[in-house]
Amino acid sequence: MDVADIHIRQLTPGDAASYRGIRLAGLKQNPEAFGSTFEAEFTKPLAWFFDRLSSSQIFGAFRGTEILGIAGFAVRGGEKEAHKGLLWGMYVRPNARGTGVARRLIEAIIAFARTRVELIQLSVVVGNEQARRLYARLGFVEYGVEKNSLKYDGKYYDEILMAKELALDADRDEVCVPCAGAELYSDGSSISIALASPSAG
Ligand SMILES: CC(C)(COP(=O)(O)OP(=O)(O)OC[C@H]1O[C@@H](n2cnc3c(N)ncnc32)[C@H](O)[C@@H]1OP(=O)(O)O)[C@@H](O)C(=O)NCCC(=O)NCCS
Repeated sequence: MDVADIHIRQLTPGDAASYRGIRLAGLKQNPEAFGSTFEAEFTKPLAWFFDRLSSSQIFGAFRGTEILGIAGFAVRGGEKEAHKGLLWGMYVRPNARGTGVARRLIEAIIAFARTRVELIQLSVVVGNEQARRLYARLGFVEYGVEKNSLKYDGKYYDEILMAKELALDADRDEVCVPCAGAELYSDGSSISIALASPSAG
């Protein structure tokens, strides 16, 4: 697959049929990867997907008119949580994997989120090493595990909680040289910067 032919854009309600197709394919093929289920969304009319695209921010990767991957972004509800965004519903069709489609979708969401929230959070089911590596490569840091987060067909799944602080990226850009040696770590509940040098301040 020639990656130069792939472009990323935000979906509009006019993409409802394509979105429905790839969303249902993801729920069917990788049921363990999502909070929702195929059964819950398969019965929804096209208008339901149209409404979702009217009220949500969902990005798609396209080759021509063919949709290869999707990822959603949502700002948390409520005044006290509105500084946090959620990355959800990430899926790439098997024939398009390993070509950077997911990375480009996440980068588009990070760029979109940067002017809207301070932090992007996500969760990934324990055992989904490909997704976990992908998020880590893009700067998401693990800050906890939710035991028995999902229950499907009588089986429980733990989820790893990950977050990326967007302000930290901006700070690092501004004070890049004096902060050389700074590193990110997670103390289990929050993400902090450890400065390697006292002069880094
Ligand atoms: C997880 C998932 C989204 C990754 O999608 P993807 O498009 O294959 O991801 P990328 O191509 O950006 O990266 C995947 C791998 O390809 C490699 N890669 C990226 N661009 C590449 C390129 N141009 N050439 C060769 N390899 C490349 C990456 O290094 C990465 O390798 P790694 O997994 O060994 O670290 C996809 O496997 C998927 O949809 N899985 C099922 C649903 C799911 O798990 N969703 C996540 C829920 S949290």
